[in-house]
Amino acid sequence: MCGIFGAVTRKGDVTPAILAGLALLEYRGYDSAGVAVFTERGVEKRRRVGKLEVLREALHREGFGGPALIGVGHTRWATHGGVTEENAHPHSDSSGDLVLVHNGIIENYLDLKRELAAKGHIFRSATDSEVLAHAIEEQLARMEAPAKESGTKTAGDETALERAVRATMREARGTYAIVVLHRRFPDRILVARQDSPVVIGIGPDVHGNPASFVASDVPALLAHTRKVYYLRDGEVATLTADRVTVRRLDGELVPFAPLEIRWDAAAADRRGYPHYMLKEIEEQPDAVAQTSFDRLDDDRGDVRFEDFALGDERLRAIRRVQIVACGTSLHAGLVGKFYLEHLAGLPTECDYASEFRYRSPIPSGDVLAVGISQSGETMDTLKALGEARTRGASVLGICNVRGSSIPRMSDAVLYTHAGPEIGVASTKAFTCQLVALYLLAVRLGRARGHLSQEQGREAIRALRVLRPRLDPLFSDDARENVHRIAKRFAGARDFLFLGRGINYPIALEGALKLKEISYIHAEGYPAGEMKHGPIAMIDATLPVVVIATQGRDREKTLNQLEQVKARGGQVILVANPGDPEAERLADEVIEVPATTDELAPIVNVIPLQRLAYEIAVMRGLSPDSPRNLAKSVTVE
Ligand code: M6R
Repeated sequence: MCGIFGAVTRKGDVTPAILAGLALLEYRGYDSAGVAVFTERGVEKRRRVGKLEVLREALHREGFGGPALIGVGHTRWATHGGVTEENAHPHSDSSGDLVLVHNGIIENYLDLKRELAAKGHIFRSATDSEVLAHAIEEQLARMEAPAKESGTKTAGDETALERAVRATMREARGTYAIVVLHRRFPDRILVARQDSPVVIGIGPDVHGNPASFVASDVPALLAHTRKVYYLRDGEVATLTADRVTVRRLDGELVPFAPLEIRWDAAAADRRGYPHYMLKEIEEQPDAVAQTSFDRLDDDRGDVRFEDFALGDERLRAIRRVQIVACGTSLHAGLVGKFYLEHLAGLPTECDYASEFRYRSPIPSGDVLAVGISQSGETMDTLKALGEARTRGASVLGICNVRGSSIPRMSDAVLYTHAGPEIGVASTKAFTCQLVALYLLAVRLGRARGHLSQEQGREAIRALRVLRPRLDPLFSDDARENVHRIAKRFAGARDFLFLGRGINYPIALEGALKLKEISYIHAEGYPAGEMKHGPIAMIDATLPVVVIATQGRDREKTLNQLEQVKARGGQVILVANPGDPEAERLADEVIEVPATTDELAPIVNVIPLQRLAYEIAVMRGLSPDSPRNLAKSVTVE
């Protein structure tokens, strides 16, 4: 939702590092940005509405009054309070000595604000975050009242500031990753977490200087260090240049066990593509292979998952699967329902995570709750999985980001190896989610005896040959064809996407991609439902994308297509090469390679992602950072 980057060192200037870190986190939120540092002049703060670039230019014009050994920055995605400079982070307390940045939502902020206002605190913003700055100030005054603290202490020592932060966060209700700095304690950064991601980078930095860092996400740390610690819920860390100490909210020391990050920061780079989204679309053949190949056991017609906590016995005891997810990940779940029912013989439900919690799901110990999430941080999905667990289900997370919150709360994890996905519109993560669900269904099917060895082998063979089958989608002809179709329809006001059966979720996904990055109103519909309402919208101005590749549902889908044609609709048909009906029925054809019914969604979605991308670019929009959206949605 918001991006946080902070640093403390004993040499140099942290401001450039903060700006560079924020640039890598801008995908998390980008309606305003701010930085606060301590220089010889004292606490200096700059905030600007707009993208990070606006802040960068402001700092270029009117920089800080010298180098800073400590500082913190933030990119915001507004929740409480409009997009204004006053509401941008960092926020300060009444004295201006304390600065704080926050990601998340403080649910009881109005109560806290009322109490603080009664004590004379004056608030300058409409945010829940500023309330925390004042609440810590109040606690600090209380802690220091008996014996005035002198300020700085030996690095790593407890100060009144740690105690004040812990006392405040014990009273705060909601979700947060906060970073706190105080002018009288200038050697330390305090970090606290509840349900919002935050990672600590442990020095020395790559130049050998003592330094510590904090960020919302690992890629922002990799230019400085590969040694990280994922702060856990209910923990508060003190970072000095030489040392990191972690305590629980009650003050108890936590054994500190950092991890070594092995993946490369360059993997998160755009590699020459004009946009991350295009790069990520093009990376899909590799991503699909990375997610599947090492896991395929061709001989046994089965799948092996690394470090998978659910053995055959547990898998055999499952009677039902409950998928929860949001957005694109939900569409993957809808395809997964077909996989699990067909390949594993398991009744499967798939719910919007945000709805699941509020519909009294039936408690049961033999349910496998599967949470699908690229980021692993989506609050609705996290909460829905928590609810499923409370009701007795085992929890399996399908995630792309290692060590994120969903994997950490799950009984078992299946990682999609898509690599970092930076574009806000999910593309390669989606196709990898489909692969992961397919593998899961085969594993369950084999463990439960629903699939014979031969059937398992067949399913695996189909996946093994998928990668080269994807090649035609990335040929110059295919790219040009989609580009031409995009040009023809870029001015449309609405779009309709139709699909049946396993391709219905692909119609939903095609529509979601288009609306989120091109702002064209688009609807995905089951082809058979069209005659029950949306048919009324069809006229010569409405482009209708129909997914009708080979398979069980093709004929029926073509019947619905005839109905669109009869009413003058403009048909863009997604079909396999050589389809005899394509010429007759379609205004435009997008050819996709043939594969099995189950794997067709992975193939069919790729040109729809490209179509959305091309249209967004033609409309002069930035596909990587569509308005109002954030890459990971860590609020309910
Ligand atoms: O990180 P997650 O997969 O949990 O995110 C879920 C949705 O927020 C996400 O898929 C969203 O719909 C994307 N913008 C889709 O492109």
